[in-house]
Amino acid sequence: MLTRVPRGTRDILPEEAAWWQLLEEKIRTTCKLFGYQEIRTPVFEHTELFTRSVGEVTDIVAKEMYTFTDRGDRQLTLRPEGTASVARAYLENNLQAKAQPVKLYYTGPMFRYDRPQAGRYRQFHQFGVEVFGSQDAAVDAEVILLALFFFSALGLKEFSLQVNSVGCPRCRGPYRGKLQEYLKEQLSGLCSDCAERYEKNPLRVLDCKKKSCQGLLAGVPLLTDSLCHECEEHFKAVCGALDELGVEYEINPRLVRGLDYYTKTAFEIISPALGAQSSICGGGRYDNLIATIGGPDIPGIGFAVGIERVLLALQKENVPAPAENATAVFVARAGVSSVQALQLTMELRRAGLPAETDFLGRSLKAQLKYADKKGIRYAVLLGAEELQKGQAAVRDMRDGTQQAVDLPGLADYLAAQLKEAE
Ligand code: HAM
Repeated sequence: MLTRVPRGTRDILPEEAAWWQLLEEKIRTTCKLFGYQEIRTPVFEHTELFTRSVGEVTDIVAKEMYTFTDRGDRQLTLRPEGTASVARAYLENNLQAKAQPVKLYYTGPMFRYDRPQAGRYRQFHQFGVEVFGSQDAAVDAEVILLALFFFSALGLKEFSLQVNSVGCPRCRGPYRGKLQEYLKEQLSGLCSDCAERYEKNPLRVLDCKKKSCQGLLAGVPLLTDSLCHECEEHFKAVCGALDELGVEYEINPRLVRGLDYYTKTAFEIISPALGAQSSICGGGRYDNLIATIGGPDIPGIGFAVGIERVLLALQKENVPAPAENATAVFVARAGVSSVQALQLTMELRRAGLPAETDFLGRSLKAQLKYADKKGIRYAVLLGAEELQKGQAAVRDMRDGTQQAVDLPGLADYLAAQLKEAE
């Protein structure tokens, strides 16, 4: 137990760091390009925030939350998603007093107690955006475009966009009745989860992944045929905007999302390379969320991308791994103390050169082998005699050539060599 991570969690090891850093950099540059600002919220919140916003009968709230009582007897929950927290932060910090719409993005770990499998973890990471304060269908299009732009910038090629409208409480009420009427006939054939959903959350039956359930839905009434006038107009406007902007999409009338706060637009981006957990991005509009948690009537829309799934998709599509940021210089020592070598290493670092030195008292040969293994470009060979003369030998690790360099000019010499080698 002491040497194992909890089930559903994983370590992100140094060899994966370049991928994570690439993703983080693309998140930042894309959001900057679109005019979205970063927000960071706590990883835990009052449990009630999620039960109210995500919805009591959703799988997330009913089965998947990491909830605990703290020493002050507060009911807290590790955030299973980011939207509720960002909506809370928007209200609590009076962001509605700022220029609208407020366009935010976030990244960070989320926690859901679900059955772990490839692409599904108990601690996973999301990149999300949320926009508050505009009803315009063009915002729906912009948010979708941001997600697509991000995936393209990473070099992903095979992904597709599905959109739907999940209506609003006004059109969902009567639709729920029609759906239950249809499902009543099929109840005996539904899986146990869907049989449970029939009463409490029948819309979720629509996107059950089990083939047996899908087979029973051939003639199911569709919410898109029951939308109220306002929702229908909005859906038309969103599809129209996507058409005009040249965005390819498919309308999936059975797309319903697993969180209760959605109204009108719902969308997912799918990577076919991923198998069962193929959704790399999910989002939609939530025009009643701010009011649900006690604020004024302020519309919102956003999405979240599953970072681990995007990394899996990049690997499946054989997108070349980003170059690792290798150290540029290794100070190898012979007959010189590790502190003396560290002294020179620090001088190089102060001059802006990524550098390291030996702490294991290895032979010169073993030190060079280490530098080679780490892909270090230049070794500075520091011997007792050279140090006395105020010199060191610079070895090009690619071809083994060596050059004696005066120590005062060493950093400049290395910087010039590295620049040339770029
Ligand atoms: P979600 O569909 O629950 O939506 O999650 C968004 C994405 O997070 C999924 O498409 C998937 O890529 C990733 N994800 C979800 N659960 C896991 C898991 N257990 N392991 C790995 N990845 C996972 C939301 O969370 C909403 N807050 C999105 C949103 C923002 N809607 C509006 N604004």
